[in-house]
Amino acid sequence: MQLKNVDKNIWVYDGDTVNFHGFPFSTRMTVIQLRNGSLWIHSPEKLNKALKEELAELGKVEYLISPNKLHHLFLSEWLSVYPDAKCYAASGLAQKRHDINFTKQLTNSSEKEWEDEIEQIIFQGSPLMEEVVFFHVSSKTLILTDLIENFNSTAFNWWQKPIAWLTGILSPNGKTPIDWRLSFLFGKAKARVTFDKMLDWKPANIIISHGECIIGNGSEFLIKSFRWLH
Ligand SMILES: [Fe+2]
Repeated sequence: MQLKNVDKNIWVYDGDTVNFHGFPFSTRMTVIQLRNGSLWIHSPEKLNKALKEELAELGKVEYLISPNKLHHLFLSEWLSVYPDAKCYAASGLAQKRHDINFTKQLTNSSEKEWEDEIEQIIFQGSPLMEEVVFFHVSSKTLILTDLIENFNSTAFNWWQKPIAWLTGILSPNGKTPIDWRLSFLFGKAKARVTFDKMLDWKPANIIISHGECIIGNGSEFLIKSFRWLH
């Protein structure tokens, strides 16, 4: 199985490791099966035959989610395989990907198509980037993209490790990378509104796109990871 079950109706798939400014970044997408059987795909990864077969067994690929303007690389491939899928983009992406016909820009509250099952809010406060964060209610799982990066130190070589530590992305103390954190200088109050909402959700698990997911102690990890915001 390429899809790994996190809880009922929610899976992750670990994609290729990509080169990000000279660092090997593992990547991950999340799949949620909605009650009507359709599939909600967060940060789609490169497709392969086995993955397509596993998805086909779960349901119809209905929604493709680009949660921030950096996570969009395989959208056109998915749309060519699943031409009926609806593509939702975070702010800033439609201007970057003129080739894709997005259904809608993600807003600061859940889309009606999934509002009973998945909550959403925009993490605002940085002029660099906004990320839309999601919460799968039934599994109490928070789905983040780049807001927490949490790599095992074995992912890096001798010179990369100290830089990764300074950047704040080594487990078990993974957090928002330093460059993005600094950009919240004048927007912390705004960001805290989102953070408080995420805490109110009381997440048990946190799925992230880069590094080790947090399974079972989500709220505790969230408080520790976002200490920089206070
Ligand atoms: Fe990323």
